[in-house]
Amino acid sequence: MAKTPLSKIIKFYIRFTPSYSAIGYHLRSIFWRNRPNDFAGQTWLVTGGSEGIGAAAARQGAEGGAQVICVARDAAKLAAFAQSVRSPQPVTYLTADFSRTADVYALLDRIRACGVRLDVLIDNVGIQKHQPVITDEGLETSFVTNILSHHLLVKTLLEEKILKDDAAVIEVSSGGMYNHRMIPDDLNITDASRYLGPRAYGMAKRAQVMIMSYWRSQQAHLSQKFYAMHPGWVDTASVNRSMPRFVALLKSVLRNHEKGADTIVYLARERPRQKRDEAIWFDRKERGTHIYAHTPDPGVRPQDVVNKLDSFLTPPAH
Ligand SMILES: NC(=O)c1ccc[n+]([C@@H]2O[C@H](COP(=O)([O-])OP(=O)(O)OC[C@H]3O[C@@H](n4cnc5c(N)ncnc54)[C@H](OP(=O)(O)O)[C@@H]3O)[C@@H](O)[C@H]2O)c1
Repeated sequence: MAKTPLSKIIKFYIRFTPSYSAIGYHLRSIFWRNRPNDFAGQTWLVTGGSEGIGAAAARQGAEGGAQVICVARDAAKLAAFAQSVRSPQPVTYLTADFSRTADVYALLDRIRACGVRLDVLIDNVGIQKHQPVITDEGLETSFVTNILSHHLLVKTLLEEKILKDDAAVIEVSSGGMYNHRMIPDDLNITDASRYLGPRAYGMAKRAQVMIMSYWRSQQAHLSQKFYAMHPGWVDTASVNRSMPRFVALLKSVLRNHEKGADTIVYLARERPRQKRDEAIWFDRKERGTHIYAHTPDPGVRPQDVVNKLDSFLTPPAH
């Protein structure tokens, strides 16, 4: 594989470090008006809610009075997080592995059994792989974890009206999407010779943004809100695992978990009107979804992404 030229790497860091690091957060936050979080009476579901950005958003939701249900794989980690939160209503949790759609179908059964209706859904689980790892369902792990499982969740919760008519859905995407053009047929690459981890990640993150645009148009008759956001560069476990050199270089200026979750909580609280059909929110502001000339493709519609994702979904036989 060809190595990225050093000049390109330097340009990348010069362009993005001031904005995506804690420096950008501090400079922008000087101008923010902070209203208190009042989520009393609301129910939230947060995927990847036991650590990192998801846990920070879940904590603020619960401290603001919401009943928060966190989802992740490790029950012990979920229990420890739930116990650490001091909130009017205890944080509860459900386990599911988002790399398996069977787990998401089972999670949906448990959500139905709880009888809850949701005010806020935060689709936060996200991973990046260096090599394709094929699941027992025959799909590429990061594709299922980052986008297919979340699509299944949103689609089913909307169809079954478990998401309230004025609910907010917030997809935690990434600035990593900016470098990648959407090619729906490349969302699930299982062939190691064609697989590039950052591309698989970036394409799934772009799909999250396009899918929010799809649901915004489909559900326009309701007051539901559909947002995609990105958290900037945050010092979390997954970034330490997947990008150790990046962390070593920027550790002192990475955002903490609360700063990474800030725009999620802002969107849940303020429900701002989005002007563009397709946008990504960052530091409380709506931003465009293309910054490079090679990524826009007017021939690929959000509907095409949805059709591709739907083609991978097979409900389990009961
Ligand atoms: N950190 C950054 O700088 C950064 C930048 C841009 C975008 N993002 C996005 O922000 C989101 C959160 O990232 P993070 O850095 O906060 O991650 P993190 O600290 O590693 O937290 C990951 C959370 O997801 C859960 N999780 C991981 N794999 C899972 C799976 N297969 N099924 C269910 N739950 C799973 C983890 O719990 P278990 O291990 O118990 O399952 C944990 O609760 C991701 O979508 C990421 O792409 C992060």
